[in-house]
Amino acid sequence: MRKTVLGASLLVLAVIASAGCDAVGRHKALSVIFDGVPSLPPPEEICEQYAAIRVAEVRDELSGKKSVPSAVVDSKSQHAPYLEKRCNDCHDKKNQNGLITSRTELCMVCHTGFVKGLYVHGPVAVGDCSACHLPHSSNYPSLLRADKNAICLTCHREKRTASAMHDKLAAQRIGCTDCHDPHFGNAPFFLK
Ligand code: HEC
Ligand code: HEC
Ligand code: HEC
Ligand code: HEC
Ligand code: HEC
Repeated sequence: MRKTVLGASLLVLAVIASAGCDAVGRHKALSVIFDGVPSLPPPEEICEQYAAIRVAEVRDELSGKKSVPSAVVDSKSQHAPYLEKRCNDCHDKKNQNGLITSRTELCMVCHTGFVKGLYVHGPVAVGDCSACHLPHSSNYPSLLRADKNAICLTCHREKRTASAMHDKLAAQRIGCTDCHDPHFGNAPFFLK
């Protein structure tokens, strides 16, 4: 039984490896995956190089050389519906993007009424939750793509208007989210 599951994972990894990281490849990989494969590598990291490493690992596992580490179990946050394997709450392989709706509407299907406040942060306002969050699991809390303070600077590289204040802050160990809400707020600049 275990061998069958690993064999299936190996097949999936091989498919993913050959499909590559582009959108079309992903969609193909998705279609194959949803035909009933039980275990998967962390999907957000799927890429040719990554898959090649995993294929090698699974081979080692099959030959009894080593055990495969579970990235899902190790990660710092996991999305409830992913953890509960409710894949079809978000995925629909019949749709072109492999999801039940557009990427900008998907999160609000369950997180209804999430966006509130007089001021809404740019990427939140356009439904681009994925700019900061991963859909399945993450090595950071709150499913973030990066540390909650480092993530701001991935976009905000421009010089601050209030630069005197911000430059002083950078020298201290105060994080952006100590003062700013990442999503919205009733004060300008979503100050807490
Ligand atoms: C909360 C919604 C949600 C749930 C639940 C979910 N996914 Fe996803 N999944 C996504 C989104 C969003 C993407 C990114 C699609 C894209 O980039 O175009 C994705 C992408 C993927 C991909 C493609 C690889 C990648 O990262 O682009 C695979 C494979 C996948 N999911 C498998 C699964 C499996 C298996 C489950 C159930 C165990 C699952 N997903 C549950 C939202 C979800
Ligand atoms: C199928 C329903 C569903 C969809 C769709 C969904 N979520 Fe969730 N999400 C949940 C549930 C359930 C929880 C856990 C309970 C809670 O915190 O509200 C959760 C929790 C979260 C958390 C908090 C996780 C933590 O560890 O604190 C984040 C962040 C999140 N979701 C982001 C997203 C993003 C981004 C999307 C779109 C890609 C999305 N969700 C789509 C159901 C969903
Ligand atoms: C600019 C980056 C960014 C965007 C875009 C973003 N988030 Fe977040 N989100 C964060 C950060 C940072 C945290 C962690 C906050 C903390 O721990 O103080 C978080 C936490 C969360 C949480 C858990 C705690 C809470 O505040 O309820 C949920 C749920 C969540 N986000 C949902 C969403 C949804 C839904 C969207 C899209 C409408 C979205 N986020 C867009 C950065 C972002
Ligand atoms: C995905 C890119 C992205 C990330 C990540 C991001 N922002 Fe933004 N932010 C924007 C965009 C786009 C705007 C709207 C354009 C503007 O006003 O400069 C904006 C606007 C703002 C504003 C209002 C600026 C104004 O002049 O009204 C503040 C404050 C802000 N972001 C803080 C943050 C903080 C704090 C974080 C980290 C939690 C963060 N941003 C992460 C893209 C991003
Ligand atoms: C000690 C609290 C505090 C911290 C920490 C902080 N800010 Fe601010 N931020 C403010 C205040 C207050 C304003 C409004 C300044 C004004 O009134 O002009 C502001 C304004 C902004 C603005 C809009 C105006 C501008 O100067 O561009 C952006 C964008 C911004 N902050 C991003 C960030 C980012 C990114 C971080 C983390 C690197 C951060 N802030 C950390 C308090 C803070």
